[in-house]
Amino acid sequence: MTKNHPSLALDPYYEGVPQYMIDVYDWAYVDPDWARVLDHNWVVRVLLFLNDRRLMRAYLDEIEEGMRVWQVAHVYGDLVTRAARKVGPRGAFHLTDVTPVQVEHAARKLAGMSWTRVIRSDAAGFAVEEQDSYDLICSFLLLHEVPEEKKHEIVNHVLTKLTRGSKAVFVDYHNPSRWQPIRYLLKVVNRLLEPFAETMWENEIRYYARDADRFSWRKETLFGGVYQCVVVEHKS
Ligand SMILES: C[S@@+](CC[C@H](N)C(=O)[O-])C[C@H]1O[C@@H](n2cnc3c(N)ncnc32)[C@H](O)[C@@H]1O
Repeated sequence: MTKNHPSLALDPYYEGVPQYMIDVYDWAYVDPDWARVLDHNWVVRVLLFLNDRRLMRAYLDEIEEGMRVWQVAHVYGDLVTRAARKVGPRGAFHLTDVTPVQVEHAARKLAGMSWTRVIRSDAAGFAVEEQDSYDLICSFLLLHEVPEEKKHEIVNHVLTKLTRGSKAVFVDYHNPSRWQPIRYLLKVVNRLLEPFAETMWENEIRYYARDADRFSWRKETLFGGVYQCVVVEHKS
């Protein structure tokens, strides 16, 4: 499942893609053939043990018409179109992603919605232009898929872009309760496929923030602690 061949440097789908993505998630988010097969609602539904709608709602419910929203990474299926439609033409919906194929898929889904932009960028390095302040920034199931250092960088970058009155929403994995059978299944899945996921069981998302005390952190857990939704705002 991993690819390291030098010829990949010449493949536009691999150009500039972080090494952790090629080493671990090539099959899911980099290889265009696999991405085409996997980019469907039913895949998200299965991967999230039927919690997809609930988790998406935790994000979508925070969107109000006319808001300026930055979603830091693409998600399979129709989440990006649902979020963009909820924002509507009086707002702005900006989506970043680090791999060419995911940017391609997002651009296709959002075609014709003039208030949307898809930008190829690492979420941790997205250079938000001066006029682009956001009312809402969402990281949907991204943190568990990136190495520790990148978790710090993404959380801190998102918080740097958070203005007074705006919110950041992090939907991600969490430490499941011991009675939750999915806990034991995820242990195996994490061992085999998700090497960066299990630190989400050990660390609160606020642990990754440099200046955590400057913000208020509201956490809700779902599905016996398998998932969390954390809403962050500046302290008033
Ligand atoms: C949001 S996560 C996981 C979402 C979920 N598993 C799904 O159903 O699609 C997957 C996305 O994160 C992107 N990604 C990974 N590292 C990134 C980074 N540092 N910055 C921006 N996007 C990143 C991947 O290219 C991929 O499109």
